[in-house]
Amino acid sequence: MISVNKPERKSRMLQEVWQTLSRSPRALEPKWFYDAEGSRLFEEITRQPEYYPTQCERDILEHQGDDIALWIGPHAYLAELGAGNGEKAVLLLKRLINPEAYVPIDISEASLESAVREIHKAVPGIRVEALCRDFGDGLDWPSYLGPGRRCLVFFGSTIGNMEPEAAQAWLGRVKGALRPGDKMLLGVELKKDPDLLNAAYNDAAGVTAAFNRNALKHLNQALDADFNVDAFSHRAFYDPKKGRVEMHLESMMDQTVQIGPERLHMAQGERIHTESSYKYTVEEFKALTASAGFETEKVWLDGRGWFSLHGLSVL
Ligand code: AVI
Repeated sequence: MISVNKPERKSRMLQEVWQTLSRSPRALEPKWFYDAEGSRLFEEITRQPEYYPTQCERDILEHQGDDIALWIGPHAYLAELGAGNGEKAVLLLKRLINPEAYVPIDISEASLESAVREIHKAVPGIRVEALCRDFGDGLDWPSYLGPGRRCLVFFGSTIGNMEPEAAQAWLGRVKGALRPGDKMLLGVELKKDPDLLNAAYNDAAGVTAAFNRNALKHLNQALDADFNVDAFSHRAFYDPKKGRVEMHLESMMDQTVQIGPERLHMAQGERIHTESSYKYTVEEFKALTASAGFETEKVWLDGRGWFSLHGLSVL
């Protein structure tokens, strides 16, 4: 294994951050939200009354989990991308027929450790094989796992944080770990009343605003930058033409920020685009996955039709 030392990691991060911050319009990749505090804030977002996706997805798994388990079939490997604490996988694993193993896959070792602990507590006796991976470039499937059928799951509509073309390309790469007969289960948020979408990203308690600003705090810590975090306001809105919620940080004054050797000048009112969260119709998402070589076999919706789980097979 090649170990990446700290100064090298820092200079690579600086390069990546500067590349998107220095262009017009300014942007930051959503991955910079997620240091330890950002992950904690995201968990808190999922508990806000305005942010329904997590509860919708849980409802589908609780009420239609038996049907989903039947569709996955017996003796399958359930591999979860970005496993987090594995809480949603538990709902499925409890219903699966003689699962071969649960395979949580995450870039964070700490997340994997907590997923393994939780799964062992909730589903005693299950075989767990954690994989520490950045699955952005695709996925290798270690041969020691065994030959059984594979079902990859990607919950939370995280695929919505990719540009649709990038999502299509990523699906194509991930498919490399699947063989004919294997499956993929994808959580996707559906298009809905813009008022609901706007409320979900502007919760009254201000948790999403803190999550958004945390990207700058993260840069301050990791890159010794000096963003005055309180001088940025949170902006989030649904753009119906693009079919996405956009999050931005808007500078409330003219300011200059030092980021490593770089100086960033921001005028009052200038914004940094920090995240897009695409929403799809069932048909739009079917077309997207088809273009990556998947066939949609099943779609499960929550009672209000706000969220979907797409059951795909490899063509
Ligand atoms: C992780 N992802 C699906 C969330 C979303 O809704 O796009 C991230 C998030 N951003 C603001 N609130 C939640």
